[in-house]
Amino acid sequence: MGRSMDTGPRGFEQLQARIDAATARIAVMGLGYVGLPLAVGLAEVGFPVVGVDVDAGRVAAIGRGESYLRDVPSSKVAALRAEGRLSATADYEALRQVDVTFICVPTPYDRQRAPDLSYIRVAAAGIAERLQPGQLIILQSTTYPGTTEEEVQPILEGSGLRAGRDFFLAFSPERINPGDRVHTVRNTPKVVGGVDPASAELAARLLRCLTAEVYVVSSARAAEMSKLLENIFRSVNIALVNELAVLCERMGIDIWEVIAAASTKPFGFMPFTPGPGVGGHCIPVDPCYLAWKAREYDFRTRFIELAAEVNEEMPRHVVGRVAEALNMLGKPLRGADVLLLGVTFKRDVDDARNSPAARIVELLLAAGARVGYNDPYVPVFQVGDDVFCRSALELRSEPLTAGRLRAADCVVIVAGHSDYDYAWLVREAPLIIDTVNATRGLAGPRIVRLGAPVPEGLARGGRGRACEGKATVDPSLLDP
Ligand SMILES: NC(=O)c1ccc[n+]([C@@H]2O[C@H](COP(=O)([O-])OP(=O)(O)OC[C@H]3O[C@@H](n4cnc5c(N)ncnc54)[C@H](O)[C@@H]3O)[C@@H](O)[C@H]2O)c1
Repeated sequence: MGRSMDTGPRGFEQLQARIDAATARIAVMGLGYVGLPLAVGLAEVGFPVVGVDVDAGRVAAIGRGESYLRDVPSSKVAALRAEGRLSATADYEALRQVDVTFICVPTPYDRQRAPDLSYIRVAAAGIAERLQPGQLIILQSTTYPGTTEEEVQPILEGSGLRAGRDFFLAFSPERINPGDRVHTVRNTPKVVGGVDPASAELAARLLRCLTAEVYVVSSARAAEMSKLLENIFRSVNIALVNELAVLCERMGIDIWEVIAAASTKPFGFMPFTPGPGVGGHCIPVDPCYLAWKAREYDFRTRFIELAAEVNEEMPRHVVGRVAEALNMLGKPLRGADVLLLGVTFKRDVDDARNSPAARIVELLLAAGARVGYNDPYVPVFQVGDDVFCRSALELRSEPLTAGRLRAADCVVIVAGHSDYDYAWLVREAPLIIDTVNATRGLAGPRIVRLGAPVPEGLARGGRGRACEGKATVDPSLLDP
């Protein structure tokens, strides 16, 4: 501890002792991509955990010992459930009984790209009604700097209890990377900042039970900002490489070869890859939170806005690439049968929120194309469910057969799932637009890669090798 909290807020020592003994009762509000792995991780290290979610289906699944997320095995949920360490409820009354509550609810943006804090406010109000002296509340939802102190704290203090005197409040950003089997909640360092030193100390103490490295910053605002820096860093660098990819196409240079070459530099360079646009809950959304908040300080976040502009243009660029390639084969986009492969926002995940695939579908339909898709992880794809799209549409994943591939005028690889057999796809599909270099190492006259020159045969009007020709590996095209 380093210093005594005897004269500090009430309940400090009791909570400290419960954390050390792993007897502190923990609630996790929001059992989604962030909350469920956290709840499971905390239960695994011995804490009794109750998940609180408004989604009755999710609560029931946990009750049956089942997981609904690819990254969390059902076997783990079932074992923790059987041992009585993990439960779930939709009843906020459970919040009265706990020592610590994590808030992991969504933080989307609205159609004007302004932060939508409604979920956080509802969660905070639910806690406030049941807040007990000595409880620790940790906000984990990604948000702009100031949310913990300006939004959550006043709502909680509506209970009559005071932060720093009667209860503890901290912000600790989540760094979960869906689909990543290496970096998990148990081995990824955590950042934490409290509204006062006691809150930071208690939150850090608890988080150290979960992961070895916990970095404490001086305030909740600094912790909130650190999360945004991480995601804006990604957004800006992805935008940079997306811009260079488009330039490389015009210059007849292969961006993938260029990235591989630049990556040999052992210092001062970090590879980012181009793609069909950014998606998911974080990269397209979080930068907007800061850009919005910055205006309150008479400040325009130009890098953030430029990066968003470049990244948001990528679906349109992909559709342009589809039209260009079809044109080379003498086919118009209007009426063409376009099959998308992988509609999630990145490969090997089941999350299609804000996926650039939705925008690509919308633009293809607007151009008069017929659009279908296959994704082993997304049986039903809701287009129009997110802020990029205006018209609601529901597509169903089609079985991926050689016949379906051959029938398509163009196959667009949007998310390069590892499960796809790319050699087979290249053999069967008459034309492939590969937006993520999933076909690296494979050569074919009708593979058009984002960020790379169009194959010569296709550029000559498809008069090269027959489209039915077998895919061959051309060593000069190998992605190092
Ligand atoms: N998904 C990621 O990779 C990721 C990574 C880091 C941070 N984050 C951030 O974490 C937060 C949660 O994201 P997510 O991807 O887990 O969202 P999610 O949509 O997967 O899960 C949110 C859960 O919260 C529940 N919920 C909504 N309102 C509630 C309420 N009032 N009370 C209780 N439960 C409620 C929903 O039913 C849902 O189960 C967001 O702020 C997001 O930006 C997400």
